[in-house]
Amino acid sequence: MPMLLLMIGKKLPTPNSDKSRAGAQLPKFSRAGNPTPNFHGKRRRHSILAFEMVRLDRAAAEPLHQQLYRQIRDELTSASFNNNSSRLPSSRDLALELGVSRFTVNVAFSRLHAEGYLESKIGSGTFAAKPLPENFLRARTAKAEPQIERPPRLSERVRNIPDHRVGRQFDFGIAGPPGVSFVPAVAALDEFPIDIWERLRAQVLAQKGAHLLQYASSRGDPDLRKALATYLCDHRGARCHPDQIIVTAGTQQAMMISAMALVNRGEVAWIEDPGFYQARRTFGFAGANVVPRPVDQEGITIARPSKKRSPKIIYVTPSHQFPLGMTMSLARRTALIDFARACDAYIFEDDHNSEFRYTGPPLPCLQGLDKVGRVIYSGTLSKILYPSLRLGYIVAPQQLVEPMIKIRAVMDQHSPAIDQATLARFLTEGFFLTHIKRMRKLYSDRRDFFIEQFKKMLGKYFILEIPEAGLHFVAWVRQKDQMRVITRVCTDIGIRPSPLSSCFMKVEPKPALTFGFAAWSRAQIREGLGKFAATLYSKLN
Ligand SMILES: Cc1ncc(COP(=O)(O)O)c(C=O)c1O
Repeated sequence: MPMLLLMIGKKLPTPNSDKSRAGAQLPKFSRAGNPTPNFHGKRRRHSILAFEMVRLDRAAAEPLHQQLYRQIRDELTSASFNNNSSRLPSSRDLALELGVSRFTVNVAFSRLHAEGYLESKIGSGTFAAKPLPENFLRARTAKAEPQIERPPRLSERVRNIPDHRVGRQFDFGIAGPPGVSFVPAVAALDEFPIDIWERLRAQVLAQKGAHLLQYASSRGDPDLRKALATYLCDHRGARCHPDQIIVTAGTQQAMMISAMALVNRGEVAWIEDPGFYQARRTFGFAGANVVPRPVDQEGITIARPSKKRSPKIIYVTPSHQFPLGMTMSLARRTALIDFARACDAYIFEDDHNSEFRYTGPPLPCLQGLDKVGRVIYSGTLSKILYPSLRLGYIVAPQQLVEPMIKIRAVMDQHSPAIDQATLARFLTEGFFLTHIKRMRKLYSDRRDFFIEQFKKMLGKYFILEIPEAGLHFVAWVRQKDQMRVITRVCTDIGIRPSPLSSCFMKVEPKPALTFGFAAWSRAQIREGLGKFAATLYSKLN
């Protein structure tokens, strides 16, 4: 059996001297197969890897075992071995050589073992693994493929998505690059209590451990569904049981699941006009024939449809019409439920902004009025908490629960279990309601300030519509012919209020912009509006 041998190329430092520890070094790899003298002056039969380049810096923040691990790993991956040249020194010899504890070397070796860089052969010692993990993780470089000369024949489904963004425009997400942009419907994310969230996340992980890493329920976390049902019954006037709740990846997925469950290709989905552009995209993508329905002061208008055009699903935003901001009247709510029942349709209630109402308590949701099981209620955490969380929920009529869960299981199984468990705690421990109350107060203050500043600085060019709820305003342009200059000024100074026309399908839009206000401080609002007003003034006067 070969004995261990350390390749020594230089005079070695004595292990106990302080100097020897800082910047301790061993000879560079030797992979020669010839017998070589070790540092006791004896001759051995097999060569052993030695690490001349190892430099351990005791003053560095990086722990010694981590430095050793990293440097050995790098040496192993930068060299090649044959069967006779891949043995490592024992941890005892290496520790002695480097002037570190054997524990330090063992920690580094264990990690290298665990990651597959080393393998032990009983009675023979420790060897560089063959193949090294780098080699089996790295795909062979393919030969350059010939370019396909024709563009791909994309499906109609993709070609028909009404989304005109291209390339880099997708990189920042819907809200665009940071800064005072006045993009509508953006929440004040810098106010989110990250510290509390992280603490709760650590708690659920400590308690549930690896259980949370498994595939999880396609309905959603049971504790979360229970907490959401309680919240919805207590604060949104819903009537539901936790079994009716399906956790989703936000409203968008809730719409997709609902469309998939109810609408065959070519069947009709009603959406509000003007309305939420993602509803138009999603229902269309699911194969529905999207029919825009005008809205009036009471909400979506209900017409007696022909048999062929009878909707299978009706998308509405009763608590805060998007984007105009009206609240659906009680009479319209009742009429809508009756209508849905009469034509065997379902109503998709997007309750996106009900928590942020500034003039009195929110109206109970449509789902709470529904005694005939026609309303699919959808809520989102995108505005109350933060949108990249990608969590929302459906309250489904009992008979739709199972089909919807089936669809979710086909789509992507479920939402991330750790986030769901954290959110459940956020709700049950009271942080959710506290956060809503705090944000409503903050938004109310910013809203008042925005109204005051906007009227003062921009009242000459716009009429500001003041809704009771939500995170944005609609500002109607007083003189239609100024719209082009206004749009250009926005681009020039880097603000991005959204043209209201992007929410219209069939109805002829009057020129207007929608301004988000909630994400920016008073100072930012004053500065952003000031710049806008000054530039507009210079162009239009
Ligand atoms: C009308 C409306 N509904 C829902 C949402 C939230 O969608 P999601 O939950 O998919 O983030 C938004 C976001 O801006 C919205 O404007």
